Amino acid sequence: MSQTLTRPLATAYREKFPGSARLAETGRQVFPDGVTHDGRFLKPFPVYIETAAGSKKYDVDGNEIIDYWMGHGSLLLGHSHPAVVAAVQKQVARATHPGACHELEIDWAHRVQKLIRSAEKMRFVNSGTEATLMALRISRIVTGRRKVLKFAGHFHGWHDLLIPAADPPYDTGDYSMPGITTGVLNDLVVVPPNDLAAVERALVEHQPACVIFEGTGGHWGLVPMRGEFIRGLRELTARHNVILIMDEVITGFRVAPGGAQEYYDVTPDMTTLAKILAGGLPGGCLAGRADLMSALEVDNRWGKKMKHPGTYNGNPLSAAAGVAALDVVATGEPCRIANELGRRLRTGLNELFAHKQVDWVCFGEFSGATIVPEYTGPRPDSDDWIPYGNSVEKLDRKIDPKLSHAFRCALLLGGVDFFGWRAMLSGAHTAADVDRTVVAISEAIDLLRADGLIR
Ligand SMILES: Cc1ncc(COP(=O)(O)O)c(C=O)c1O
Repeated sequence: MSQTLTRPLATAYREKFPGSARLAETGRQVFPDGVTHDGRFLKPFPVYIETAAGSKKYDVDGNEIIDYWMGHGSLLLGHSHPAVVAAVQKQVARATHPGACHELEIDWAHRVQKLIRSAEKMRFVNSGTEATLMALRISRIVTGRRKVLKFAGHFHGWHDLLIPAADPPYDTGDYSMPGITTGVLNDLVVVPPNDLAAVERALVEHQPACVIFEGTGGHWGLVPMRGEFIRGLRELTARHNVILIMDEVITGFRVAPGGAQEYYDVTPDMTTLAKILAGGLPGGCLAGRADLMSALEVDNRWGKKMKHPGTYNGNPLSAAAGVAALDVVATGEPCRIANELGRRLRTGLNELFAHKQVDWVCFGEFSGATIVPEYTGPRPDSDDWIPYGNSVEKLDRKIDPKLSHAFRCALLLGGVDFFGWRAMLSGAHTAADVDRTVVAISEAIDLLRADGLIR
């Protein structure tokens, strides 16, 4: 494996995480790159976690780590929330897979309906990827049209039609990807974010079946989309008779209990949900207008049924966890705490970066925080501020992988795990966690500086 860390950092990292180093060697023998998710790849090796509770996880060497991955966004309530643990423990002894309808799936659906305004009817699936796949298929069945419009830099899972244009570069117009056919690509229309005129031109020219977008902008707000644009999108799609799909796999139950649609006062035709939906267990859901969802019914107005099996759909363990989690979400407290701490982290980091005179800046909305390294431009004047005038090319760019790996490792040395350059807070984090994190980032900056990786 090529050496990415400088010698002092690499030595300190190996000394702190010897158990993880050993497991990583074995992991590489069974998994490509040693990992089961691209995002968990880390050089020289990832940290192996044994247990987790609240805002912390504990690795195989007994180190305590403040977590900002939070189950890839699924743990708004924190790790092993007591209500979720109790619900799953109770259910696991009753039935893990009846291979039949069960009452908990109805309880789960009622929780979703109570919170998500667009959820007239729904179908449970197993992931966000499956939910967006289903949304496209239904859109095609009911409109008889083929094309799908998405935005550059929006991620909707890894299936063929929506993974293109999820990552830069965006300015070449070439979204081809290894393993994806041109036939599939020809059905995709990609439009830059935050440009309603470009959307309208594309709607007229391509007459797509649907428009899909992430509720707060690409990669959960790396390039934010805000209320005016989203409401404009609603108006345009309604006028051109195109189905609007709001992908709330991350934003659902996080931005607000009712998701970004509640916050921005917009009702999409269909909504994709996952992550918090199932309280940290696998699960997803497509929810939407009853007439559209009827495409799943045996006798339906469209004269064509969408075939939809799926061994684990509505699994009772996920349903039990989901019911317990959504009851806590409904109180509004987890969102309130996570959003408040998101602001505290962003503010604390910007004060730190100014103090350390490092060319980094932090921005974000709700419970997210994003560090932009190698930043050139004016400093923030409010928490509402977006760097680089919200340019997709500047905000969603590839950052030097050597620096990115070194930053994560340096931060792990200080007992903090960031999602790359980004953090997701939960209702289980505390102000003390956030303040400790700011200190850990200060120390990481010192390490990177000492090793000549940043100025
Ligand atoms: C907005 C969005 N949509 C869809 C997905 C895919 O969800 P899953 O990983 O459950 O397939 C993700 C995953 O991070 C996501 O962030």
